[in-house]
Amino acid sequence: YNKIGLIGAMDEEIRLMLNQLSGQEQTVKAGIVFYEGDLDGKRIVLCKSGVGKVNAAVCTQLLIDTFDVDTVLFTGVAGAVDPSLNIGDIVISTACIQHDMDVTALGFERGVIPYAATSTFEADPGLIRLAEEACSAMTEGRSVKGIVLSGDQFVASREKVKELFETMQGACTEMEGAAVAQVCVMNEVPFVIIRSMSDKADGSAHVNFAEFTVKASEQSHLIVERMIKQL
Ligand code: ADE
Repeated sequence: YNKIGLIGAMDEEIRLMLNQLSGQEQTVKAGIVFYEGDLDGKRIVLCKSGVGKVNAAVCTQLLIDTFDVDTVLFTGVAGAVDPSLNIGDIVISTACIQHDMDVTALGFERGVIPYAATSTFEADPGLIRLAEEACSAMTEGRSVKGIVLSGDQFVASREKVKELFETMQGACTEMEGAAVAQVCVMNEVPFVIIRSMSDKADGSAHVNFAEFTVKASEQSHLIVERMIKQL
């Protein structure tokens, strides 16, 4: 890996990495600030995509075309969908699906993009393994591999989160991963999404999100930092 693209959606999710990048150079494209620098002898391009799938897609394509990254990592927080997960636990993406893609009226399954070769965007096996190794050094919390469900919705109801688990077998839900994943697959660039749980996507999600996002962002950052050292 020569150049690693690292994305977070919000300030909290990129701040710790930003503090660690040396020799930074900033470029603004499409209103997104890209920070190029070094960490542990590796070339990193760090950016805050903004929230949602469109922001994440634009950001990922720019990382690939303009900054020539050959690997994409995503660090951030998510709502737990798998009921066995607790706040602070880590999900490593095996694959990502857009849960709000819904053409069921025309007979397509939930999450299926009509006429596309695939709608389940698989993460790179080598990066998954690296993430697992990084997680094995974790002192608190659990880590699991699973499906990351993305949609332009902050999920905050018991019914919705139950439905996502039962119909789409997601481990967690957030608002960018599957857009990053789709753009990476379209460009044949390896990726993995690392998310720490800030909430359980239920009726308390908005309160928990506010309370735990900083702490969960730290957990995710620690994993990604260890991964970069091993890349
Ligand atoms: N990111 C963190 N928690 C989330 C939730 N409950 N829904 C969507 N995105 C999230």
